[in-house]
Amino acid sequence: MTDTLQVIETRYLPSHLWHPVRLICKHSCHVDGHALGFLPLSAYDHRHERGDLIAIYRNDDLVGYAMIGINSSRECRILQIWVRPDARQITHGRALIHYIAQKKAQPTRCWLLRLYCADDLPANIFWRALGFTYRGWRWGRKLKRKHLLWTIDLREPAALTLGLRMTPSQDPLAPPNRPPTLLPDSEADQREPRMHLPTALR
Ligand SMILES: CC(C)(COP(=O)(O)OP(=O)(O)OC[C@H]1O[C@@H](n2cnc3c(N)ncnc32)[C@H](O)[C@@H]1OP(=O)(O)O)[C@@H](O)C(=O)NCCC(=O)NCCS
Repeated sequence: MTDTLQVIETRYLPSHLWHPVRLICKHSCHVDGHALGFLPLSAYDHRHERGDLIAIYRNDDLVGYAMIGINSSRECRILQIWVRPDARQITHGRALIHYIAQKKAQPTRCWLLRLYCADDLPANIFWRALGFTYRGWRWGRKLKRKHLLWTIDLREPAALTLGLRMTPSQDPLAPPNRPPTLLPDSEADQREPRMHLPTALR
């Protein structure tokens, strides 16, 4: 039997399937809090209602989720992504990002996906494998870890790694070859100097 993979915005789920998603979001912060941070359930509820929470199912089994936020500069921030440990490295993470790029970013004319990832996480290899580019770093909230900024410009050939590319005709408001304008999320962006990608990631 062939496996089926389904990626869906949680707001489109029947209501009885929303509760398990909330549970897995909470669970993920317990088991991988060092990677995701800790968010109250109300934050997931908020993103759920806005259409910014995406779930992935393999054969009707909930195996992961991603949370995004789209800003006024038409940049799509990946706020959280998590795949169940027993379901990792078999393309679920890639499928979530592919869905975000194709179904969330492109229809809203977002041309950039961006996120921060603490420098000690294996997830940095994931972002690079997907074709994201390292842009610099800032201190995390507690000033203990460096958080690396990764972006992918959906108009660039590198986005082909994800299996899609935003053409100028799909993005009429964006002048071609416009360099990314990375807006700081916090003062830490301005306060701290940039440095190069850690050796292990070069
Ligand atoms: C990061 C995470 C979402 C990746 O999900 P996943 O389903 O395992 O990723 P995929 O199977 O789609 O992997 C896509 C590519 O990244 C690579 N990759 C993913 N995780 C990797 C790892 N830990 N080490 C090395 N490569 C990795 C895969 O080998 C694959 O490469 P390929 O396409 O060249 O074969 C998942 O590991 C996770 O939930 N981690 C804990 C939470 C976390 O760190 N979130 C991100 C915080 S920034």
